Amino acid sequence: RTTAVVLAGGTGQRVGLSIPKQLLKIAGKAVIEHTLTIFQNAEDIDDIIVMMAPGFVPDVEKIVVKAQLTKVTRVIEGGATRNETTERAIAALGEGLAENEDRNVLFHDAVRPLLSQRVIRDCVAALDRYQAVDVAIPSADTIIVTRTHGEDGEFITEVPDRSRLRRGQTPQAFKLSTIRKAYRIAAGDPNFQATDDCSVVLKYLPDVPIHVVAGDEYNMKVTQPVDVFLTDKLFQLASTAAPRQADEAAYRELLSGKTVVVFGG
Ligand code: CTP
Repeated sequence: RTTAVVLAGGTGQRVGLSIPKQLLKIAGKAVIEHTLTIFQNAEDIDDIIVMMAPGFVPDVEKIVVKAQLTKVTRVIEGGATRNETTERAIAALGEGLAENEDRNVLFHDAVRPLLSQRVIRDCVAALDRYQAVDVAIPSADTIIVTRTHGEDGEFITEVPDRSRLRRGQTPQAFKLSTIRKAYRIAAGDPNFQATDDCSVVLKYLPDVPIHVVAGDEYNMKVTQPVDVFLTDKLFQLASTAAPRQADEAAYRELLSGKTVVVFGG
């Protein structure tokens, strides 16, 4: 059995609207409706739990009814941090579950509304062999590590080899027993700090291998104001011949009618 947990407990301070960014309408639907519809349509997903920002649970419930998202079984308030939201989801998943009963669980950011069915399939398939699975893409940018020196600002301390660096996306997929155990150990650590769930497994269950599934450039996270516009554009492209791989014909079609001339054409 596989449950998708859609993490929507944040308030979207960086996008800076009066409503959480997951309720913003992009391409005709609330961001979270796009995301929930993807899991609703995924063959491998049996049920969906939504962790929503406090005060906005009724907004999601309305969407669930209107869009007939029949796999959504619960809409629950999230916590103060992303990890607290995950913890609450784990508690909810454990209710009514026998001690020896396990299941697959995929945690996904509500604000990644362009997740592909391929990535979901790969995550669920990987859980046949691994207890923990991440989704990542190569980094086009050079990543630098810095340290702040008072008023002088930031300075580089390290430039890690880019070929080994990846940008983590979601879903992050686990056997429920594994992620639950990791969070139980983390609860006893007064210095616990994380922004994702794989790092909790990495830190507290270091013997558990975390398999990495290839993500997708489209699977971006709506984080900054500009991402709202980029996402809107990507939804338009998603229904056209937008190039997911190098494809000269697709580039030509995409850019036709524009002043841009590519490939000497
Ligand atoms: N999230 C959550 N519970 C929280 C904080 C975040 O479930 N307490 C979710 C967000 O709703 C989002 C995902 O985690 O789907 C990624 O987080 P982020 O982009 O940082 O979202 P926000 O916290 O809403 O953004 P900001 O930091 O700009 O306020």
